[in-house]
Amino acid sequence: GPLQPLCRGAFILLEGCDRAGKSTQAAKLVRKLKARGFLVEHMRFPDRTTPIGNMIDAYLKSTKELDDHAVHLLFSANRWECMAKMKKLLSSGTSIVVERYAYSGVTFSAAKGLELAWCKSPDIGLLAPDVTLFLDLPICEAGKREGFGEERYENEDFQRNVRGLFLDMKHDMTVGDIQNYARKTIDEIHGELVASAIETIKKCATLPLKDLWK
Ligand code: TMP
Repeated sequence: GPLQPLCRGAFILLEGCDRAGKSTQAAKLVRKLKARGFLVEHMRFPDRTTPIGNMIDAYLKSTKELDDHAVHLLFSANRWECMAKMKKLLSSGTSIVVERYAYSGVTFSAAKGLELAWCKSPDIGLLAPDVTLFLDLPICEAGKREGFGEERYENEDFQRNVRGLFLDMKHDMTVGDIQNYARKTIDEIHGELVASAIETIKKCATLPLKDLWK
């Protein structure tokens, strides 16, 4: 008989400024999707476990200085080195919930003054997310959260620039992405993320994978 089309997994991206709640929400989302019977894995960028990720980690903890362009390319390389794994998971039917991606790459480097088009170019052709969910928290709130200020970039003026750049890119993100999460509880946000994730998983099950910014 005719072959059943193989359902692929969905690439669900969580983006946002530092301390916006991405890790908390990603963990809750993954747990819920698994409980509902979906195959799903949790990933985050930077992936600090690889040799490239080790260099990025040292830079973020300020034990190492690097040229802005050089570290930008390391962040991008850190995504490229994960492409084979991500494609394999998605094509075998496992969805991935990913914390941060090329949008963080572009906004953080552009906030340092690097040219936007230059910032985007090394990430052109990466796997494109199927949905990008932007957790938008006023920077003054993020600044009050535990741990803020421990790593490079965690100061309010810089984060305000980053947030502005994220908002400039919202046209570039998938439908439903940038919502105002500011005044909602963790559980309300969680409920919205679960709904978007499940809708996305169903919608792209038989669609081909896409390339970013192509
Ligand atoms: P994390 O706190 O989510 O691990 O991210 C570490 C920091 O690295 C965070 O301040 C955002 C920044 N970053 C970039 O500057 N470029 C990138 O490409 C990524 C993924 C993160």
